[in-house]
Amino acid sequence: MNKWNVYVTNEIPKPALDMLAEHCDLEVNRLGKPLPKSTLLEKVQGRDAVLCLLTDQIDNEVFKAASQAKIFANYAVGYNNIDIPAATERGIMISNTPGVLTDTTAELAWALLFSVARRVAESDKYTRMGKYEGWGPMLFLGQDVMNKTVGIIGPGRIGLSFAKRAKAFDMKILYTGRAPNPQFEKETGGQYVSLNQLLQDSDYVSIHTPLLPETFHLIGEKEFKQMKKTAILINTSRGPVVDELALVKALQTGEIWGAGLDVYEWEPKLAEGLSELNNVTLCPHIASATIETRTKMGTIAASNILTAMKGELPPNCLNPEVFKSKFDK
Ligand code: DGY
Repeated sequence: MNKWNVYVTNEIPKPALDMLAEHCDLEVNRLGKPLPKSTLLEKVQGRDAVLCLLTDQIDNEVFKAASQAKIFANYAVGYNNIDIPAATERGIMISNTPGVLTDTTAELAWALLFSVARRVAESDKYTRMGKYEGWGPMLFLGQDVMNKTVGIIGPGRIGLSFAKRAKAFDMKILYTGRAPNPQFEKETGGQYVSLNQLLQDSDYVSIHTPLLPETFHLIGEKEFKQMKKTAILINTSRGPVVDELALVKALQTGEIWGAGLDVYEWEPKLAEGLSELNNVTLCPHIASATIETRTKMGTIAASNILTAMKGELPPNCLNPEVFKSKFDK
């Protein structure tokens, strides 16, 4: 078995790099930030495999430059940063890291929900600024979470994990998606409703859908108008699922009560006015950022590459037809 030449587009946890270094010739971008496109195009040349991140736009131009690549292993479950049809066309396998970040992401969605509902980030700032002068009956009144209605958009793995946790707070669970999901209902008691119904009836709305052409701006001006004035929106999926300018307006005008965001439409840029608002908690895309999970994401991405190097189908290959037509001899 020939040693593969592998490029990693940013620093990831050491166990994953060690796995690759043991079996491959490895180069890692140690700059601690995403590479400009021109450097990326240079760096992928002559590589057998590339381990890339969701901050890398992997398009046809990149695949053309990486003419020897057999696989691009994305260090994420989401893969909207990769042009999969272009990869398939060029006979390059693409893999992702599903499963391992499900509960970790759901936990951050809950952290955001509590932060906004109970005004945790806002009151932390107030306390640090030395403004706290004693207990007050009207100080930072938030909203109960228990016994409320939560609406989940996208009953996939992360939506399910989020919903299971809602049961612990005796919440009524509504969900919407492409179709009713019997497994989701069995495990959570959740009720399938239309998006409109969900928006009208939910106290909390949490988004867990991938970014697809049909989910772009799924929540915008019209949807905010349907929501309760006391509603809180949580987004840990992908920024462009929400029309961020419409969100800022809805938050400014009191159309909804608050929002907890981990992702942004023009990431890492925030829509104008968002950071000035007190009724939001803003995280820098850290939903999967625990030591355990980020390490597992790395080792999964590395093992997708090492499996391909052995001539086998990588466990998380998103376009297995490439393997069947090109590598399955
Ligand atoms: C993913 O994996 O898609 C998350 O957004 C980052 O971990």
